[in-house]
Amino acid sequence: MQDTFRFNVRRADWRADGPQLSAIRRAVFVIEQRVPEHEEWDGLDESCRHVIALAAEGSAIGTGRLLPDGRIGRMAVLAPWRERGVGSALLRELIALAREAGFRETRLHAQTHALAFYRKHGYVAHGEQFFEANIPHYEMRLTLLAG
Ligand SMILES: CC(C)(COP(=O)(O)OP(=O)(O)OC[C@H]1O[C@@H](n2cnc3c(N)ncnc32)[C@H](O)[C@@H]1OP(=O)(O)O)[C@@H](O)C(=O)NCCC(=O)NCCS
Repeated sequence: MQDTFRFNVRRADWRADGPQLSAIRRAVFVIEQRVPEHEEWDGLDESCRHVIALAAEGSAIGTGRLLPDGRIGRMAVLAPWRERGVGSALLRELIALAREAGFRETRLHAQTHALAFYRKHGYVAHGEQFFEANIPHYEMRLTLLAG
């Protein structure tokens, strides 16, 4: 792969990495997708596990979080970095975190445009489409353990 598009994913800490994670979410959700600030900053970040993607030169380019109840959310990759495997690497790390925490299943609210992305990782859509922050979503689930 070209050097320009090399990146790493690691587990993040909200207290140390919060400013970088917030900057990505502000760019993607608040500015690009027009999610209202009060919905984006829902007060749950301090109790979540987070992941961060960093470009080779060190800048933060993607993030996602695992809620205490096993739900994954706030998956965001900066626009110039999309379709290069960053989102997949973040999601794999979040699924690993959910497994390590002992969850038998992980759920998420997928924006309808991203259903195919989550399907590639084994997620299955359940129920009817619904709206969150004026954006259409489906609930999706991934079984982590049989039985
Ligand atoms: C959704 C998102 C996180 C995916 O990240 P990404 O880095 O582009 O994903 P990847 O490059 O790892 O994509 C993996 C695969 O999913 C596909 N894919 C990615 N985004 C997709 C989308 N929006 N719709 C359909 N397929 C998509 C890619 O084509 C790729 O397929 P391939 O493996 O056959 O080439 C990113 O597009 C994003 O941040 N979007 C804006 C915020 C958002 O909508 N977040 C999701 C909230 S539920």
